[in-house]
Amino acid sequence: MTTAQHKIGSGFGAGSTAAEVVAGLDLTGKTAIVTGGYSGLGLETTRALTAAGAHVVVPARRRATAEEALRGFESVEVDELDLADLDSVAAFASRFLASGRGIDTFIGSAGIMASPETRVGPGWEAQFATNHLGHFALVNRLWPAFDAGARVVSVSSRGHHFGPVRFDDLEFRAGYDKWLAYGQAKTANVLFAVHLDRLARDRGVRAFALHPGRIMTDLVRYLDREELRAAGMLDASGQVTGEVKTPEQGAATQVWAATSPQLDGLGGGYLEDCDIAEPAPADGGRVGVKDYAIDPALAERLWTVSAELTGVNAFA
Ligand SMILES: NC(=O)c1ccc[n+]([C@@H]2O[C@H](COP(=O)([O-])OP(=O)(O)OC[C@H]3O[C@@H](n4cnc5c(N)ncnc54)[C@H](OP(=O)(O)O)[C@@H]3O)[C@@H](O)[C@H]2O)c1
Repeated sequence: MTTAQHKIGSGFGAGSTAAEVVAGLDLTGKTAIVTGGYSGLGLETTRALTAAGAHVVVPARRRATAEEALRGFESVEVDELDLADLDSVAAFASRFLASGRGIDTFIGSAGIMASPETRVGPGWEAQFATNHLGHFALVNRLWPAFDAGARVVSVSSRGHHFGPVRFDDLEFRAGYDKWLAYGQAKTANVLFAVHLDRLARDRGVRAFALHPGRIMTDLVRYLDREELRAAGMLDASGQVTGEVKTPEQGAATQVWAATSPQLDGLGGGYLEDCDIAEPAPADGGRVGVKDYAIDPALAERLWTVSAELTGVNAFA
């Protein structure tokens, strides 16, 4: 069944690190694919999974940068992937499938945030294309390799609170807003996990989405100091506002989603702070999951649209 959006009391929390959530787990013999696995939360995810014995494949937009970042890691392999280019997605997937290996864990950690209006492929809005459509096409193309017991982890954000998927104007033709576009893409990340879980659970594959927390990483690369102040991320003196996690803490929820036995038999849920999230309060607030992000009908609708746009659907 789909996971109810209520805490289970995992014993972990906002301060837990990725290393702590895998402590005691032996992932020897497991294969993980981590997009963005060479920067920010993805890098710390790769570190924790390899330290626990997994072999991690990191498909990278910047191969040399990834190789440099991952130098000295135990069992890691870098390949090439641009999520904004469906030919690149298809090429990486066929190279991986040709290797004959199975996948135990897929973590879609790559993403961009609040980029200036950019069009990719056939004119798609870049945040929706990179954060959602690229991962959608990649998981569908890799589907034959997923082993029973595997998990797919879709790294979303509290940014999904900015708004739902705009089915009447997915590409922001009527006027671009970089934060609404990020919100749409992050809502899509949650809906993707909801419907994938529904389609895949009979084959023993489960999917989760999550908010990792607030962590200062290269994700802010498109924002100048003024915009960071306007977004409430920096105060007037340029200091980071509010509570922030370290990258090791930020990676914990996605590593927990990918590996924790506490989630056995569950799927389709949205997580935060290494636990299942509660529904977002109707009167606002910054925690929890919005109804429109876990609505099964919206999830199915997004799946259908995404399959039409990308031309890929492993479940057709
Ligand atoms: N940091 C936070 O506070 C926060 C909060 C909520 C949610 N998140 C989510 O967490 C995830 C990871 O973010 P992060 O903070 O770790 O950011 P990050 O350090 O900027 O890492 C993002 C990764 O995505 C890769 N990427 C971007 N565009 C790509 C493309 N077209 N194809 C392939 N890879 C691409 C980047 O590669 P290059 O460096 O080569 O471009 C980088 O490795 C994102 O999905 C983000 O939305 C983060």
